Amino acid sequence: MDQQLHQLMSPDGKTKYLFFGGKGGVGKTTLATATATWFADQGYKTTIVSTDPTVSLSAMFAQPIGGEKRVPIRHVPNLCGLNINPSDAKGVYTQRLNSMMAQISGTFGNEVISTPCMDEMATFDQFATFLEEPDSEVIVFDTAPTGKTLRELAIPFDWAGFLQKQIQDGKELARLMMNMDGDSFEGLERDKQRYENALAVMRDRATTVFSLVLLPERLPIEETHSAITGLDRLGIPVQSLVVNQCILPEVVEGNRFLAARSKVQAYYLDEIEARFNGLLKTRLPLLDHDVSDLSTLRQVGKMIYGE
Ligand SMILES: Nc1ncnc2c1ncn2[C@@H]1O[C@H](COP(=O)(O)OP(=O)(O)OP(=O)(O)O)[C@@H](O)[C@H]1O
Ligand SMILES: [Mg+2]
Repeated sequence: MDQQLHQLMSPDGKTKYLFFGGKGGVGKTTLATATATWFADQGYKTTIVSTDPTVSLSAMFAQPIGGEKRVPIRHVPNLCGLNINPSDAKGVYTQRLNSMMAQISGTFGNEVISTPCMDEMATFDQFATFLEEPDSEVIVFDTAPTGKTLRELAIPFDWAGFLQKQIQDGKELARLMMNMDGDSFEGLERDKQRYENALAVMRDRATTVFSLVLLPERLPIEETHSAITGLDRLGIPVQSLVVNQCILPEVVEGNRFLAARSKVQAYYLDEIEARFNGLLKTRLPLLDHDVSDLSTLRQVGKMIYGE
């Protein structure tokens, strides 16, 4: 249990946004769902949002969770879930963008619509809406793996800069204005503003806690370092690390295999302490079973945040 982590994450009158990022398979969904369940059990109105195209969230809570609207999670009174599917999000976003793009394709080009980043942009677009309309005290995001997450964040940011440049450029503006109706132009400016607002929320330490989940192993450590650097470039501070699947000394019991793994972990745990000093670190032990039902989620929540 980590009193400090629980204090860092608890809402105090204002909505808290809790992000869990990290390399594939390290335990982001486990941490995000356990955290959301813990806060809901504490009485906070909580929403868990996944931007992962897989069915992890539905599988974890054993009920269908889609992207249309939030669904109440069974047996967790204060918790709702939403799974933003990039392809669905893309549909809504493309529709909105298409009408605008039809009018300005001469300037921006159709390639904006067919860019491979469309999924990320559409997801971020939905995601920005979430940050605008908080109606929960705690909103937990189970993000997709690090690289993709960074792109989701960085691309709309560049896009906003690009629009800014277009808007500042008098000649382009005049040409655009002649070809576009007022609503479309306002739409672009509104999007830019929305993305900037979303980033502002994510940059605010008081509102947002960005946690990275990792294992005490070489590759997740390097990925964590690169995620911290990448997020830092966007002005988003990482405040906490959750080191998952730590082998506790008491489970080794003379087993040579476990003893060897535990020794390797001890080496990397020292490295994590030294390399990421200044960040709040929490360890979650390796359990003797997977985390795929509500009672285990509650068990994990208590291990991290206390009773
Ligand atoms: N501390 C733990 N002890 C035992 N099993 C764990 C622990 N943490 C996570 N797991 C198991 O590890 C697997 C991967 O965890 P999870 O799905 O949370 O990772 P993820 O980072 O969300 O993966 P992805 O990148 O695919 O979204 C799951 O089967 C989960 O039950
Ligand atoms: Mg996951």
